[in-house]
Amino acid sequence: MNINFTGKKVLVRVDFNVPLNDQFQVSDDTRIRGALPTINHILDNGGAVILMSHLGRPLKKLNPDGTVNRKRYTLNHVTSHLSNLLGKPVQFAEEAVGSETQKKADALLSGEVLLLENTRFYKGEKKGDPEFAKQLAALADIYVNDAFGTAHRAHASTTTVAQFFEAGNRCFGFLIEKELENAKHLTDYPKRPLTAIIGGAKVSDKILLLETLIERVDNLLIGGGMAYTFIQAQGGSTGNSLVEEDKIELAKHLLERAKRNQVNLVLPEDSIIADAFKEDANHKVSPSNAIEAPWMGLDIGPKAREAFRTVILESRAILWNGPMGVFEFPAFANGTRDVAQAVADSTEDGTFSLIGGGDSVAAINQMGLANEVSYVSTGGGAMLELLEGKELPGIKAIGS
Ligand code: 3PG
Repeated sequence: MNINFTGKKVLVRVDFNVPLNDQFQVSDDTRIRGALPTINHILDNGGAVILMSHLGRPLKKLNPDGTVNRKRYTLNHVTSHLSNLLGKPVQFAEEAVGSETQKKADALLSGEVLLLENTRFYKGEKKGDPEFAKQLAALADIYVNDAFGTAHRAHASTTTVAQFFEAGNRCFGFLIEKELENAKHLTDYPKRPLTAIIGGAKVSDKILLLETLIERVDNLLIGGGMAYTFIQAQGGSTGNSLVEEDKIELAKHLLERAKRNQVNLVLPEDSIIADAFKEDANHKVSPSNAIEAPWMGLDIGPKAREAFRTVILESRAILWNGPMGVFEFPAFANGTRDVAQAVADSTEDGTFSLIGGGDSVAAINQMGLANEVSYVSTGGGAMLELLEGKELPGIKAIGS
């Protein structure tokens, strides 16, 4: 952010794709708070801020008559929340582009904030359309990208728009800088032992991540639904647990690679199994490789929790992505809770810990431990792609 913002109009791409409750109020403002340092810095330095973001996937959920569901997806839902956090009024433009919006942008004074309507109301956004991007760019003198959570999308407001600003008039915001810096603690100069704790429902969502990690980490702890595909690959019986049949070969291959690379790959020795996928299902402890239908594994068991904790406490750098069980149901939340606690304890002991990915972030927030880990990423897919070693289009566009 080495630009002089005095007297300038600054177009800032933020990721305000935040969860809303039934009354369309912001229910988790982590991402909004994450963008505040950048916004305040520009305002304090005499700039006028024009904010743009997407919210949800409105073009996939059109009204029955084919129009955009503005009631549900308008970005105006975040205006008052943002205004409270900034301690100043926030103007709202009912269209992201067009003559009315241009007028509002032209009239914006230093120290003022204008929020544009959801960029995904426009087909050009996801296509990365230069025409749409050019209209956005026309609103301002400087472009700042601080939308880390959307940096893996080559969209008009995250990527194409950058080309309409000269290299000296575009930059990252503080949040992107912070996310990139923290990721480097895992990718570029990790302390050892380096441990990845990977969970969540499906192996298929994390193939590339697992393949990358197996080349880098010392320990790989696998929990959540995806563990059962690995347990089946080892010849265990998994009952009605979630198993991706078409990923069993891949799981075998990953197990072999782990052995070859001397990665300590730990699967849950036992599980909390349930007779249905329900909050109040009957449940009991079972070895993870001896589950009979209709039972299914919905959380890691006590032995697994202990084994995971031991590895976590011996680690010096940790990535955690994905819950260990169905933590939304209290009976199956112990694995995720204990892992969160172990990561917090290890962090207190000097370990670097990064929590990435929507569900594990929700879990760490739910457990009240977000302040006891080193870094909670605001990016789900974006952080995963970064850790997979991919170049994110939103990052590349600023540099090139
Ligand atoms: C996210 O929530 O991961 C980002 O805001 C990106 O949203 P998307 O997956 O709809 O592109």
